[in-house]
Amino acid sequence: MASRLDAARAYARAGQELILSRISGPGRSLNVDTKTSITDMVTDVDRAVEKLLVESIREDFAHDKIIGEEFGDGGGEGPYAWVVDPIDGTTNFVYGFPAYAVSIAVRDLARDTTVCGVVLDVPRDRLYEAARGQGAYVDGRRISVTARGELAESLIGTGFGYAAEVRQAQGAMVSEILPLVRDIRRAGAASLDLCMVACGELDGYYESGLWPWDFMAGAIIVEEAGGTVTGGLEQAPGAAMTIATNGIIHDPLRKLVVSLAAKYGSRS
Ligand code: IPD
Repeated sequence: MASRLDAARAYARAGQELILSRISGPGRSLNVDTKTSITDMVTDVDRAVEKLLVESIREDFAHDKIIGEEFGDGGGEGPYAWVVDPIDGTTNFVYGFPAYAVSIAVRDLARDTTVCGVVLDVPRDRLYEAARGQGAYVDGRRISVTARGELAESLIGTGFGYAAEVRQAQGAMVSEILPLVRDIRRAGAASLDLCMVACGELDGYYESGLWPWDFMAGAIIVEEAGGTVTGGLEQAPGAAMTIATNGIIHDPLRKLVVSLAAKYGSRS
């Protein structure tokens, strides 16, 4: 049996192929529904890709648990769990904005740790991957975080949730962070934001309200690229807050984000 990392890579490639087959060619159209709010979209392609991933995992690793964005929990009892986002960056996907990815992480539930992760940037055809203790790679080339030490010189990524009141607080926070950093980027796919930290295209990234499938694969890729990933008040990244940096700017960014979250009544 192939290793879980080899399998994750193959599943992500199969997902990419399915996505590309559904958007190319004349007369193709997406079926778009909304989920938690009018801004939160899901397409028939998200569902088809997740179905493909789930069926492949079930066939190859029948005992493993599966946690997916669109269909929830399934599969066996573990001790391994696959955390899958068939299309992270669905809004970008719907608009054809070139930043969306298939994101797959494998967790060891007994040790409460991620053992490997793959993020496949579909439009750019870049495969990011990491296994615990083995380094992080894009298309087979080793990657590492930046060495920048000043927050004032740092390029910081962030993202926004789908609920209007959450966005209001996130917007207020970003308006206070913007004058203190080099600049802000909002690419629209958390998994790719994390990979950008891992390969030095960003110095840091923070976002509240993420789901495990948004950040689990990207987080191990940042850590294996030499970076740091934490929550805000919590040590572990999660729904309240996820902060990922080159490690050097981690404490100042974390302090800033936590204090602004408290000021604006946002979770951290
Ligand atoms: C979303 C993207 C976005 C982030 C949202 C996520 P989805 O995932 O990662 O960048 O800001 O918080 O929910 O809905 O496109 O899979």
